[in-house]
Amino acid sequence: MVSANSVRHVACIMDGNGRWAMTRGLERIHGHLASMPALEAVVDAALAEGVPWLTLFAFSTEKWSRPAGEVGFLMSTLANRIIDTSLSRFHAKGVRVRMLGAMEGCLSDDMAAKIQHAEEITRDNDGLNLTMAVGYGGRDAIVHAARALAAAGIPPDDITAEVFARHLQDPDLPDVDLLIRSGGEQRLSNFLLWHCAHAELVFLDVLWPDFRAEHFQHALRIYHQRQHRFDNIAVTPTAPTGGGAIVPRVITLPGIMALHLTNGLLGTVRGTMRAAATHLTTTPPPPPDTPPH
Ligand code: IPE
Ligand code: IPE
Ligand code: MG
Repeated sequence: MVSANSVRHVACIMDGNGRWAMTRGLERIHGHLASMPALEAVVDAALAEGVPWLTLFAFSTEKWSRPAGEVGFLMSTLANRIIDTSLSRFHAKGVRVRMLGAMEGCLSDDMAAKIQHAEEITRDNDGLNLTMAVGYGGRDAIVHAARALAAAGIPPDDITAEVFARHLQDPDLPDVDLLIRSGGEQRLSNFLLWHCAHAELVFLDVLWPDFRAEHFQHALRIYHQRQHRFDNIAVTPTAPTGGGAIVPRVITLPGIMALHLTNGLLGTVRGTMRAAATHLTTTPPPPPDTPPH
C-alpha cells in the first residue's frame, strides 16, 4: 500500500476506450464495455489506499456531439450495466455514490430514477465518496455557480473564492490533490477546472480498459515524490529536539531575502566564470615555440 494520508481527493479522466477497441479491430463501444473492470479496479484501489474522495470523468458536455449511437450506448446500455452490476458491490464496500453534471433532459426517466436510487441507498456510507461526473463540463460548472451567486443577490464585494465554491453544484467536493489521466493525452478536457487549481497532474500511457490498481498506486507514488521534492524546497527540517521529533521550519521572509542575495552573489560569480571561460576559449593559443610561463 502506498501511503495516501495526504491525498484527500483523486480525480480521474478515464480516457482511451475508443483506441483500445480500434487497436483490436473492434467498434468503439467495445472499448467502453471493456472498461468496466477498470472502474471496479480504481474504486477498489482508492478504498485500499484510504483515499476518501474519488471523482471519475465519465461523460463530458463535449461528448454530446459524438455519434448518437455511441452517446446512447454510454448513457443507457453502459450506465444501466454499471448500476445493475457494480452498484451493489460498491454499496457493500461502503461507497457513497454521487453524480455531478447537468443530466436533466438527457436521461430517460428510468435512468434518472436509478441514479437517484443509487444516491439515496448509499447516502450514509462513509468508506469512499465516489463522484461520477456525467454530462459534466468545468466551464458550465463555473457558469452555474456564477448564476447561483447572482440569483442569491450576493453583493460583488462579498464574493470570495470560498463563497464562490459554496455555490458550485456540490459544495462538499474538496480540491483535487491528484489528477490522473489515462490514455496518454495531456489535457484537462474541461474537467474540474475550479477544483484542480493546485492539483498534481499525472498522465499515464495506459488505455483506460487496461487501468488497474497498480496504475493508481504508481500515480500515488509520483504524487508523493513530487510532494517530497516540493517539501524539501519549502520546508527544511531542524535538528531533533527533546523527544526527537523533527519540527519542520518554514523559510521566513528574511530567510527568503538571504536566499535571494546568495543566489544573486552566486549569479555574479557564475557570470565572472562564464566571462573568463569565454575569454579563454576565444583567446588564440600561443604560438607553438612560445615557452610556457
Ligand atoms: C473515454 O474514452 C472514455 C469514456 C467515455 C469514459 P474515449 O471514448 O475518449 O476513447 P479515445 O480517447 O477515443 O480512445
Ligand atoms: C475525455 O474525453 C474526458 C472523459 C473521459 C469524459 P475526450 O477523450 O472526449 O476528450 P478530448 O476530446 O480528447 O479532449
Ligand atoms: Mg478520448
